[in-house]
Amino acid sequence: MPAKPLPKAELHLHIEGTLEPELAFALAERNGVALPYATTAELRSAYSFTDLQSFLDLYYALMAVLRTEDDFAELADAYLTRAAAQGVRHAEIFFDPQAHTARGVPIGTVIEGLARALDDSERRYGIGTRLIMCFLRDESADSALETFEAARPYLHRICAVGLDSAEVGNPPSKFREVFRRAAEAGLHRVAHAGEEGPAEYITEALDVLGVERIDHGLRCLEDPALVERLARERVPLTVCPLSNVRLRCVDRLADHPLRAMLEAGLLVTVNSDDPSYFGGYVDDNFTAIRDALRLDDETLRLLAANSFHAAFLDDRTRRDYL
Ligand code: HPA
Ligand code: ZN
Repeated sequence: MPAKPLPKAELHLHIEGTLEPELAFALAERNGVALPYATTAELRSAYSFTDLQSFLDLYYALMAVLRTEDDFAELADAYLTRAAAQGVRHAEIFFDPQAHTARGVPIGTVIEGLARALDDSERRYGIGTRLIMCFLRDESADSALETFEAARPYLHRICAVGLDSAEVGNPPSKFREVFRRAAEAGLHRVAHAGEEGPAEYITEALDVLGVERIDHGLRCLEDPALVERLARERVPLTVCPLSNVRLRCVDRLADHPLRAMLEAGLLVTVNSDDPSYFGGYVDDNFTAIRDALRLDDETLRLLAANSFHAAFLDDRTRRDYL
């Protein structure tokens, strides 16, 4: 019998990246949206990426099937069902409002739909949940500000803001003002940095945006002084091993720097990013790196414990999980 998955928190998960081909086809039919693929197998065969942008092109295209509150609730329910089976007890879930409002879907539809599934997640799935609203860094700073203002009536449902999409050429400093407003509104802050972009983007995210966690962060390894700082300040890094291989940030899982990151004293967590596209949910990531990097049980337990240390939880709740 396979071992029971370790209890863990998932902190780097794009809800739109959990859209499985079967659900995409069902929603396409329900909403009268034409997909440029005849079958789920044909769609799956398009999941061969050369870099971040080649993935993002498909990721945004497939979102056309998400239109109603029910669609967003169903998407989140499907993720939570899978996450529960993978040992997830707490999930901090990214969503990309601009990818939906640009298609004419109101931000309230997105947030209320997701919230409907999340509000009941503890009772139905045994998973505590938070929402993290991400800004698309390849859109303008003004678009991020408009999005933040449109989300004001819903901020009680949002735990943090984040930054994702095409990284290179879109440094964190472009989003100084919207992160300032988010901090003023009492929200936590995170940002993707050092996935494809340089180590300086990690430093900027910390110093200009005031982020509390770095999503990915792999390229910190190119700057020893930054590694030393991240370790000293206990800044969590939400690492996504299968994503890193699929998007060619790392050649092979066996070459993944996760072990080196742990040895450098970094607070590393393991996450799935966009599991429908990258070949596995969070425990599949744990299993894959265990095998590829020959991690022992103690290291796996450390990674799972790190996920709760890195989560936006109050100390009492954190203690209950650990
Ligand atoms: N990086 C940047 N943007 C994203 C990702 C990612 O891994 N997944 C979804 N949007
Ligand atoms: Zn991501």
